[in-house]
Amino acid sequence: MKTTPWFKTLLLTFGFAAALASAAPLKIGFAQTGAESAWRAANSESMKVEAAKRGIDLKFSDGQGKQENQIRALRSFIAQKVDAIVLAPLVETGWDPVLRDAKRAGIPVIITDRSIQTADESLYACFIGSDFFAEGRMAAEWLAKKTGGKGRIVELQGTPGSAPANDRRKAFAEGIAKYPGLQVIDSQSGDFRRTGGKEVMEAFLKKHGKIIDILYAHNDDMALGAIQAIEEAGLKPGTDIVIVSIDAVREGVQAVADGKINCTVECNPLFGPKVYDTVAAVLAGKTVERKSYNKDELFDATNSAAALPKRQY
Ligand code: AHR
Repeated sequence: MKTTPWFKTLLLTFGFAAALASAAPLKIGFAQTGAESAWRAANSESMKVEAAKRGIDLKFSDGQGKQENQIRALRSFIAQKVDAIVLAPLVETGWDPVLRDAKRAGIPVIITDRSIQTADESLYACFIGSDFFAEGRMAAEWLAKKTGGKGRIVELQGTPGSAPANDRRKAFAEGIAKYPGLQVIDSQSGDFRRTGGKEVMEAFLKKHGKIIDILYAHNDDMALGAIQAIEEAGLKPGTDIVIVSIDAVREGVQAVADGKINCTVECNPLFGPKVYDTVAAVLAGKTVERKSYNKDELFDATNSAAALPKRQY
């Protein structure tokens, strides 16, 4: 799908023309979800550093893990008459009213990182992020191979209602469904946070004792928190409990090289350059890809140590 002619006309008339007429730098509002993980820190950094390089006047808002804060930030960007809005939505639903306000004001919205569910696809210009569904599937396929399709799994979910938690959970469940010997025996949210991962893993260990064979964590931060809980319980992460995770942040890849995490599927957060290229194209009235996904890899014992020196985040 391409941008609609309606959107193009609006942008050409009010957005690009206005930006050209004034010598003022491009003003972009970025509503970030929060600062819950190392992935998020790397993503915020990529957006800020690239904006500075390009002389963009970036209005950065940290939503602190609350959708209402992000909605408030969007309203403030609209009031400030920014040229474009970039939104990394905490959860999938509940955005339509504020996106309608942005559309009415003639401000294009680029959705990044996490997708949204909307009744009106014309409310945003395009999406840039990772394919969370593919990541969950990669984790399941790797695990089935590693374990021969057998084991009791506990799952640490991300933020409830968020696209990565929804997609990674569903894709993993579908992926292991072909292996009746692989069973998810418990699944709780650790909110993508290290503290959340530790607390929930402690509860899993208390409840299930030593019958847990596998941990599937929706991100590295929760896996790293869980590792602490596993070690405190006198068990060896990566050996007594196989750990498969997502993100491949430096500390996660290091844990793979150390044998504490067995596999981490990459989710690349460094898309500042791509976002600003796309904003410029949208403001210039060019046709952009409706949904564009970053390319992700997988790290396990075979390639983690070699990857570490080149890891950018
Ligand atoms: O939306 C991307 C996810 O959000 C990352 O996997 C996780 O670490 C982050 O907090």
